Amino acid sequence: MWKDIKFVTPDIVFGMDAVNAVGDRIKALKGKRALVVTGPSVKASGALDKVLQSARDAGVDLDVNVQQRSTPEPTTELAEEVAKYIVDGKFDVVVGLGGGSILDVAKMSSALTTNPGKTRDYFGPGKVKNKGLPTIMIPTTAGTGSEVTKHAIFLDQENNVKKAVASSALLPDVAIVDPMLTVSSPRHVTSASGFDAWLHAAEPFVSKNTNPITDALALQSVSIISKHLGVAWSDPNDLDARYHVSLGSLMSGMVLNNAGTSLVHALAYPIGGEYHATHGISLSVLLIACFKAIAASKGERLVQIAKAMGENVEGLSTREGVEVALDAMAAFMKSVELPISLEEIGITDRSGVERWAVEGWNERRLLGRCARDLTVEDIAAIYRDAFEARNFCW
Ligand SMILES: [Fe+2]
Repeated sequence: MWKDIKFVTPDIVFGMDAVNAVGDRIKALKGKRALVVTGPSVKASGALDKVLQSARDAGVDLDVNVQQRSTPEPTTELAEEVAKYIVDGKFDVVVGLGGGSILDVAKMSSALTTNPGKTRDYFGPGKVKNKGLPTIMIPTTAGTGSEVTKHAIFLDQENNVKKAVASSALLPDVAIVDPMLTVSSPRHVTSASGFDAWLHAAEPFVSKNTNPITDALALQSVSIISKHLGVAWSDPNDLDARYHVSLGSLMSGMVLNNAGTSLVHALAYPIGGEYHATHGISLSVLLIACFKAIAASKGERLVQIAKAMGENVEGLSTREGVEVALDAMAAFMKSVELPISLEEIGITDRSGVERWAVEGWNERRLLGRCARDLTVEDIAAIYRDAFEARNFCW
């Protein structure tokens, strides 16, 4: 059977010091007055100065909006405030400069300038009808993929859960990925966001919505990130490692946008919302339990991931290969000090399991891509399996 394939990506500029292209890129989008949405740490790292210099060189007028926030995910109100700032200031291009949350705020605020209502009105797939102002996304961490995706994730404070806006209208016009900007990432950000990037490749690969293009990108991304993340984490100034982790992250962002995440991300939402665990951590504590749960149907693909991670799976049965894959993943996470069980991040109270299972099951957009049709009770069993790391190794 011949499968139809649709593959979408923004215009991409990747390379060391690629950030210096931002001024010309704003001009190419016919921008005369751009707003940079950024965060306090980015301002301190010097990345903002590079953007300002590039804009000056290109003769573009630039204003800066520095976002402050107290929760790991941005609240919906932030995008609404920035949208008002954009409209009042008559800006014509929006530049996001920061980690994934900053980029999500920038993308959503641009969309809210041409779509009525509030962020909350657009949760779910395909709700944003009109393209916003042109956007340029410049990540300062390697991991979320937000610079090449149509997604924006927020904390819905009404229900204390994370929710996603997933609309093609949010796809940035340009992604500028400069590995030099990630050099100042703190160690725990490098590991958590790098693992998120790894999973944006690995998780779609073992889900239903793949195609040969996303598969090729996914395996290459898993290979690159598995090889280089430990070095970037150990030595933040190793530019070769930073280059490759950024490249792997960009590639996995393209997989994320075109094939989508599934079970691990769906089950991480209740944990992230309730315990305010950062995104990467809420994923790492669930990974092994989730992948065990789909091994019956995706065993051979898990073995391919093990191979991409550099494991020798020659001559092994699928069952043996899956064991190697899960052990390799656990070792990979542990090597960069990521927790691999709920107990490791202090979640010992099991009374929430049934509630999380219902919330996880309701993530139909993500679970629709899952290789296994899961009941609420199946999902509760996965959460229970994720409490203790010692249950993980077969
Ligand atoms: Fe993610």
